[in-house]
Amino acid sequence: MDWTESTRRSFLKQFGAAGALALAAANAEGLSLEGAQNAAPAANSSADQEQAATRQERMKWWHEAKFGMFIHWGLYSVIGQHEWAKETEGIPLAQYEIIAKHFHPKPNAARDWARLAKKAGQKYMVMTTKHHEGFCQWDSKLTDYNAVKQGPGRDLVREYVEAARAEGLRVGFYYSLMDWHHPDGALCKTDEAARRRFVDYTHGLIRELLTNYGKIDVLWYDVSWPLTPEGWESERMNEMIFDLQPEIIVNNRNGLPGDFTTPEQHITAAEVGRAWEACMTLNDSWGFNRFDDAWKSPKVIVDNLATCARGGGNYLLNIGPEPDGSIPPDTQACLETVGKWLDTNGTAIYGTDRANASGNVNANYTRRGNTLYIHQHFWPGHTPAAEWLSFYQPEAVIAIGGLKPKVLSARLLKTGQKIEFTQDEFTLRLTGLPLVAPDQPATVIEVECDGEPTVNHDSMRPLWPRLKADISV
Ligand code: GLC
Repeated sequence: MDWTESTRRSFLKQFGAAGALALAAANAEGLSLEGAQNAAPAANSSADQEQAATRQERMKWWHEAKFGMFIHWGLYSVIGQHEWAKETEGIPLAQYEIIAKHFHPKPNAARDWARLAKKAGQKYMVMTTKHHEGFCQWDSKLTDYNAVKQGPGRDLVREYVEAARAEGLRVGFYYSLMDWHHPDGALCKTDEAARRRFVDYTHGLIRELLTNYGKIDVLWYDVSWPLTPEGWESERMNEMIFDLQPEIIVNNRNGLPGDFTTPEQHITAAEVGRAWEACMTLNDSWGFNRFDDAWKSPKVIVDNLATCARGGGNYLLNIGPEPDGSIPPDTQACLETVGKWLDTNGTAIYGTDRANASGNVNANYTRRGNTLYIHQHFWPGHTPAAEWLSFYQPEAVIAIGGLKPKVLSARLLKTGQKIEFTQDEFTLRLTGLPLVAPDQPATVIEVECDGEPTVNHDSMRPLWPRLKADISV
């Protein structure tokens, strides 16, 4: 599909006004939590304003999606020691280039990734089209250091795009501005002629990516070393991107705010009103690392996903396929388990709203409107204290201090089973629960409230009833 100027104008006409109105409404409300997560940072140039006006509409699918697959795959996968090997090991360029001749992925490897992403409940994919090593995974006319002219002999970006679309997944391109291969990749910092050449090359590569593969949903820039946003001409870069792909969303790593913030290897919610996505690895490496066995468990992944959703953010979880594109077995197994859990518990994740609730060691929370989802990952079972503490029972009890407001009903999401409860101004006690967790890696309990649920036990701390000062024990 050719995204022409008229496509762009009709999109702006259709959504621009609505987006601007919604934004104004959110501002007028003092940025309510739901409205706020789609709102924009202050816009400066007229291009910024145009992007801000369409932001809410462009990002609707993304906010609902919550969960995406990141894929780091390139020449570094052949070495299998993390995608920074060229630099951390100081591999000479002439040696590194030889890898390109030995990169022979199996046909359509991306189909297996897309199938796995779908199974895992991920709604979009973001693949490294060019990582710091500078190797272009597509049929570029601007360099021979590309997948068609080298070992693979095929356009790997096209295979990836087609695979994602075949599974109904949104398509994202990761693109590293930093380039260890191009002759001007470092010189551009100190030499104006080199900067001019390198910026033209960079804009040209991005233009190819956003012209030749139909509708692209996300552009995910990375590392802007060694130039400033002015040096990269990032304003002009983004304008070109929105000209070519009016509905695209872009991250903030070309030095401009873009549409969303990208905390890396940690989950930190952005301020209310700012979209964010935590990108994280499944072991400790982005690119395939055959020696890295620090796999996170499905329990950790499901909990991370809930933490992102709780803060109104997304979770972009990485896989590092092997050189031939195969998915490492630990990756496959973990994502399948997560997907099974999402089959029954997806309603507690997709399309949820930012929640004002702090989790605890045993449980996490998400929220949609007046519904609170308790994600109990450590199920309480039986406590011997039940023999002499009436607070507990022979069956399992889940108690939450600091939950407001009034609870109307509660049920297990997995089975629909109704749950009995008592509530006073300090505590909600869910009672008569089975002794064994009904679901793994977390059991979700859906709690209907008569207003927006919040969980904040430390704000209750000053209010907990205490002993009177004149009573000695
Ligand atoms: C860092 C790393 C890079 C990785 C990226 C993912 O920028 O340099 O290797 O691709 O994080 O967010």
